[in-house]
Amino acid sequence: MSTTTHAAVDIIEREHAVVFQTYRRINVAIDRAEGMRIYDVDGRAYLDMLGGIAVNALGHGHPRIIEAIEHQIRRYMHVSNVFYQEPQVILAEQLVKASGYPRVFFSNSGAESTDGAMKIARRFGSATGRYDIIGFSGGFHGRTYGALSVMDKPLYKEGMGPFLPNTLVLPFNDVDALEARVDENTAAVMLEFLQGEGGIAEATQEFVDAIWRLKRQYGFLVIADEVQSGIGRTGDFFAFERYGVRPDVVTIAKAMGGGLPLGGILATDEAAALLEKGMHGTTYGGNPVACVAGSVVVDEVTSGLMHHVREVGEYLHGRLREIHDSFPTLIREVRGRGCMQGLVLNQDAAPFIPKLLEHGVIANATAGNVIRLVPPFVITHSDVDELHSALMMVFTAG
Ligand SMILES: Cc1ncc(COP(=O)(O)O)c(C=O)c1O
Repeated sequence: MSTTTHAAVDIIEREHAVVFQTYRRINVAIDRAEGMRIYDVDGRAYLDMLGGIAVNALGHGHPRIIEAIEHQIRRYMHVSNVFYQEPQVILAEQLVKASGYPRVFFSNSGAESTDGAMKIARRFGSATGRYDIIGFSGGFHGRTYGALSVMDKPLYKEGMGPFLPNTLVLPFNDVDALEARVDENTAAVMLEFLQGEGGIAEATQEFVDAIWRLKRQYGFLVIADEVQSGIGRTGDFFAFERYGVRPDVVTIAKAMGGGLPLGGILATDEAAALLEKGMHGTTYGGNPVACVAGSVVVDEVTSGLMHHVREVGEYLHGRLREIHDSFPTLIREVRGRGCMQGLVLNQDAAPFIPKLLEHGVIANATAGNVIRLVPPFVITHSDVDELHSALMMVFTAG
């Protein structure tokens, strides 16, 4: 065993000794990261097709982000939401401009945004005695009790109950089940229009149309979870845009912070007004260092990067289809768009992740049989070609 390998083993063993064992980690100990690359403590370089699980939109160590963070750290790092802070205002103004939603609340993570959105739904419903909040199978909204209550993932919920009352999960893309259950007691439905953890699975237009038909009939809120798919990842600012609908509330996080913890809720004026002074908040929400990083991300995304995502996403899709054509029995389908795509296999995807790692590519498996690709938006054609070669080698070896 070389000395460098010893460094990785040492870190891994020490982690096992002192940290809650809640994560199924990839057996790599990180030294540093730059652009599309991650380097481990053994000096190996990997192509990062996971992007910190759909976070590092501008890649690692983007000079504009570093400059903004350094500048803000020297001004101040935290003062609390007792004060007015321009970095929050600037990012909120950018988000309002990019999204068309008039109001923003800042949190620290996706799950927190989910719970905040659910509180809006409860407030909305409590005035009229309607409390049901509905999620859909395959959806992932985080690990808090609010989020878990509208998810159907047994692994995350096992032995954790009871969950929130008046919450339920209906089958995704099932119009009949929706029509049978949604009624005047429904306060809100929450969905990812393009499910991430659910295996890069898209809502059908028919399903979305049915939600809006019922919304017109019963008047409930629609909450779009754009934590993974939002801020330009699909080549549109939000995944819901191509459905021709406008949800009342949108949750965001991940890509927005450019690598720092930052989440948010976008809402109509009416929905935002449901949370009155003192009703919701968080000590760190809208941390100014995270907000200045977020401002760089939103600026880059809205001034050209989103077009790149669309273009490189089409190239990625084409190359994945070539792989599909080469291995038609192993691969069932290529799904998704932009920097959010998945290779759907006819078998468990997990065994292919360490094999890809051996060929220098980091990706992960989700929904059992899907290899998920959520790279930074700055991915190039040559990065895609590198991924293609690694996938060809891995699937050829079987
Ligand atoms: C669609 C979606 N919503 C919510 C979350 C939860 O975000 P966080 O892990 O920041 O709490 C995730 C995380 O993967 C997600 O993909």
